[in-house]
Amino acid sequence: KEIRIFSPGTVSNVACGFDVLGFCLDHIGDEMLVRTTPQQGISITKIEGYDLPYETEKNVAGVSALALIEDFQPGFGFEIEIYKRIKPGSGIGSSAASAAGSVFAINELLGKPYNKTQLTAFAMKGEAVSSQSEHADNLAPAIFGGFVLVKSLNPLEILNLPTPEELYAVIIHPQIEIKTLEARAILPKDIPLQKAITQWANLGSLVHALHSDDYSLLQRSLQDVVIEPYRSQLIPHFDEVKTAALKQGALGFGISGSGPSIFAITKGEDSARSVEAAMRKVYESSSLQFETYLSKIN
Ligand code: HSE
Repeated sequence: KEIRIFSPGTVSNVACGFDVLGFCLDHIGDEMLVRTTPQQGISITKIEGYDLPYETEKNVAGVSALALIEDFQPGFGFEIEIYKRIKPGSGIGSSAASAAGSVFAINELLGKPYNKTQLTAFAMKGEAVSSQSEHADNLAPAIFGGFVLVKSLNPLEILNLPTPEELYAVIIHPQIEIKTLEARAILPKDIPLQKAITQWANLGSLVHALHSDDYSLLQRSLQDVVIEPYRSQLIPHFDEVKTAALKQGALGFGISGSGPSIFAITKGEDSARSVEAAMRKVYESSSLQFETYLSKIN
């Protein structure tokens, strides 16, 4: 038996939801082919697109798949082909797409014995290989779709939030490397109370905006006063791109995960196209290489 799947890219943090909020992209992602084999265990038989390890224990898709079969003990094995389209280190959930994709595919081949939360738990083992920290804010949206809130890691509790129909994301990926590990190391350990109040008010109102299709409230909620002031310094032209996107009508703007990708959220595809053009213009006048992506959020 075999299955071919699409494993989507994701945007985590979404301004005010550091480590707890994320959303899923539409057609931007990897493909994987997973088939059963008589011999037990997991083998990675093909990787196209980017240079990643074939050793199962070093590959995020391999490690998450191992976690699942150790629990299920199917009595046979699986081989995995990975067609990587999301660049590792881009900030749009490349490792999460690999880690989530393998467990999703194996679960389908086994007749869906696990629910989405359990699949996220297996995938976290794979994600930990690449980022060396436990967070599920890319994995959960890749597995659940739409906007997702990770209520707690232990016990793992994930809330699938409603996603208003007209939301689009524009992502710009400057071709520089930012390691999640380093982008976490520069963050302060303590937050001034006043900033914490602003942040949790924003996150609460953002969740309310999603539930009530309130685009205007969404716009007023998409702000990050805790993390962005530190991490934005690692991203060239961050303030200029942000100003250009907001001036062009974006509802919000922020760093995608730990960067270097940055994202804007818009209402409608036409708005997304003009925001994309405004963001591109800033980078076009610099010498930086970059790519942009436009996607519906769902
Ligand atoms: N929430 C994580 C962070 C996502 O911002 O460090 C990165 O993978």
